[in-house]
Amino acid sequence: MSKYVVTGGAGFIGSALVRGLLREGASKVVVIDNLLTGHAENLDEVRPSIELHQIDIRDYDAIAPILRGADVVFHEAAIPSVPRSIQDPVPSHQVNIDGTFQVLRAAAAGKVGRVVYAASSSAYGDTAVLPKVETMSPRPKSPYALQKLAGEYYCNIFAQCFGLETVALRYFNVFGPRQDPSSQYSGVLSLFMRAILERRSPTIYGDGEQSRDFTYVDDVVALNLKAARAGGVSGRMFNGGNGGRITLNRAWALLQQFEGVELPAVYGPPRPGDVRDSQADTSAACTELGHRPQFTFEQGLRLTLEWFRAHPRK
Ligand SMILES: NC(=O)c1ccc[n+]([C@@H]2O[C@H](COP(=O)([O-])OP(=O)(O)OC[C@H]3O[C@@H](n4cnc5c(N)ncnc54)[C@H](O)[C@@H]3O)[C@@H](O)[C@H]2O)c1
Repeated sequence: MSKYVVTGGAGFIGSALVRGLLREGASKVVVIDNLLTGHAENLDEVRPSIELHQIDIRDYDAIAPILRGADVVFHEAAIPSVPRSIQDPVPSHQVNIDGTFQVLRAAAAGKVGRVVYAASSSAYGDTAVLPKVETMSPRPKSPYALQKLAGEYYCNIFAQCFGLETVALRYFNVFGPRQDPSSQYSGVLSLFMRAILERRSPTIYGDGEQSRDFTYVDDVVALNLKAARAGGVSGRMFNGGNGGRITLNRAWALLQQFEGVELPAVYGPPRPGDVRDSQADTSAACTELGHRPQFTFEQGLRLTLEWFRAHPRK
């Protein structure tokens, strides 16, 4: 019998991972989430097949018995926002660094088989060279980027010093169904989805020519499942993008084209901490983890748009 734990499993990526594990036939999937930015409804139709514990990852005594003996812990829980980490740095420091430490500590004590950690491409910061490759020196530009990088380093240290197998995946900009568009801190494509369906112009911070390696969530789920099993990779970090690069202007233009409408974006000042361009070198993930992205940006965008259309704001 296999046991998987997903921290942050009621969130956007975590809930997709829960579905991916169940699709693969996992016999036991356990979610830890305090529902800070996640929603129990994200797990509605899989609820009978999982255990959901509404607890905080910083609470070692609460999480330790849940992690004990798990085959794999997918650590997705975080306060995942650059601007939020600047406006309100204390909670994101506590959750993203202290919380990650407690998860790793509980996993090591509980003889967990492996921890797969949701790291972030924001750790690279602005690099002169694209695509960004794992051997580049990190240059975090925000508390969030630094915190996610500290989590990566802790994963490596737990592998070196405490005998815990860990793999860190630096996600690039993940998008797809269930990404929450309800806050000022939400991912840009989820905000674009709401805007296009409500026939509103979105606000783009900066000139819109900043570019991202937007990665459809099911590709990230598949990569996590591969990272959970790959041999000889403990303590390592891999890029988790799909190798493309799309500007925000292009993404908004495509959505207008899909919907047959013209809604010019409104432009605001660039946001502090934002990286200008982002694109993953996927060679290491492809060679060593077997990463094979299945979705082009346009396919992912259409699937996401259809999901948002079918799930109007409550
Ligand atoms: N979405 C992206 O593009 C992206 C990019 C890079 C890295 N990541 C990382 O991927 C992970 C998942 O991000 P997401 O986009 O699904 O965000 P999300 O906000 O939907 O998911 C985060 C989840 O963590 C939970 N959480 C927060 N604090 C917690 C705590 N103290 N205890 C327990 N649960 C807590 C939230 O309730 C939420 O369900 C995060 O670690 C994030 O840093 C995401």
